[in-house]
Order: sequence, then C-alpha cells, then structure tokens
Amino acid sequence: MKTIVLAGAKGGGGKTTLALNLAIEAAKTDSVAVFDSDPQQSLRTFFGIRGGENPALLRNVGSLRRVSADLKKAGAPYAYLIADSPGSFMKVIRDAISAADCVVVPLRPSPLDILAQEDLRPVLRELGKMPVTVPVITMIDARTSHTDFVERISEMFTRPPVLIRNRFAYARAMIGGRAGFEIDKECTAEILALWQTVKHVLKEEDAGE
Ligand SMILES: Nc1ncnc2c1ncn2[C@@H]1O[C@H](COP(=O)(O)OP(=O)(O)OP(=O)(O)O)[C@@H](O)[C@H]1O
Ligand SMILES: [Mg+2]
Repeated sequence: MKTIVLAGAKGGGGKTTLALNLAIEAAKTDSVAVFDSDPQQSLRTFFGIRGGENPALLRNVGSLRRVSADLKKAGAPYAYLIADSPGSFMKVIRDAISAADCVVVPLRPSPLDILAQEDLRPVLRELGKMPVTVPVITMIDARTSHTDFVERISEMFTRPPVLIRNRFAYARAMIGGRAGFEIDKECTAEILALWQTVKHVLKEEDAGE
C-alpha cells in the first residue's frame, strides 16, 4: 500500500479538492482508502455524501502515521491510502507528511501562497520527502500568465509543478459528492495527468529502494 498525502502550509489551496479527485480517479482501477487528518473533516463529509465502498472512508481519527503503519503491517487490502491534511496545525501536517510515500502540495498562483510554503519546505527536507513531493499550481486563470509562478515553484521544489485550472466544476461537483471530472470532461485530462505523475513518483521511489 502506498500513502499519498495532500499537504500545504496555507488554507484554501485546493488540498481537499485534489484529494477527493485523486482518490476517485485511483479507484477506477485500484482499491483505495481515504483518511482525513484535518479537524475540519471536509474530506470525511464529502465521502459521507458520496457513499460507496471504493474509495473507502477510514473511520479512524488521529495520527495518519499510526493508521498508515498499522494498515501496512496488517497487509492492507488497499493499493493506495490517500489522506487530506489541514492548512495549519504544523504538528498534524508533519505527522501526515512523515507517513507519505508521495506528498502533493497544491498552491494557488499568488505570492502569499508561495511565501507560506516557506514554512513547509524545511519540514519536507527534514523528513526526507522533498524528492517525492509533487507541487501543483491550482486554480489557474486561463486569461492570466502563470509562467513566472511555474519558474518560482520549480526553483522551490525538486520536481516541476503540475498545472490545474480554475474550473467551477471542481467546486460544484463536490456538493453532490462527485469528482470534478464526473460532471465536466475538461477536468479529466488534468486530474489524470496529476495521478500519472503521482504513480511515476511512487514507481521511482520503489526502484530506488
Ligand atoms: N481547480 C479549482 N477550480 C475552482 N475552484 C477550486 C479548484 N480547486 C479548489 N477549488 C475551490 O476552492 C476552495 C478551496 O479548496 P479546498 O477546500 O479544496 O482547499 P483546502 O486546501 O482543502 O482548504 P483548507 O486548508 O481550508 O482545508 C473550495 O471552495 C473549492 O471548491
Ligand atoms: Mg481542506
């Protein structure tokens, strides 16, 4: 089982949105569990509305590190564990990152979002997770240039960012317990590209071990 954590040192960057889209994408071909380490419990609420058994919502609360380790030890029946984390409470974020085989860091193309990641990068480095971190620039407005943000993010992380556009479907779909790509085809390619990047990182990590 591989553990994928959505993390970021700022609220509202798109962690929960990408966590649920990735989980539903992954569940097309594999068994997936989802875990919500954010006290706000938005991911849990979403999967409560969605229902179904794959992705399976884990009812455990508390430490992702413990939950992930227990599942791995028990030979978990899941191929992937996808976890959301809060935008603050560094202790919880750190615990979640320490459990990750891949960390996905979404951030909006705004100087404040980029500045906030300065709090996250030392944690990623200290826990040895920088090489398995995938930055994502989310909510990109099609009309404005984002090339300077792509350059800046590429300098800050080992890997180049994956790009996700600002699409109302991502927000609207959540109300009915759906992924963005389940109501709008425009979301399909970009979520698939992100999922393939995550799988590539996991494969590289396996080959390196
Ligand atoms: N690509 C996108 N296009 C349009 N809206 C988006 C996109 N991604 C997220 N949103 C919207 O932006 C808001 C913040 O997203 P989300 O809740 O996923 O962020 P978060 O990082 O989980 O926030 P928090 O730190 O508060 O948990 C939500 O209203 C969501 O519907
Ligand atoms: Mg959230």
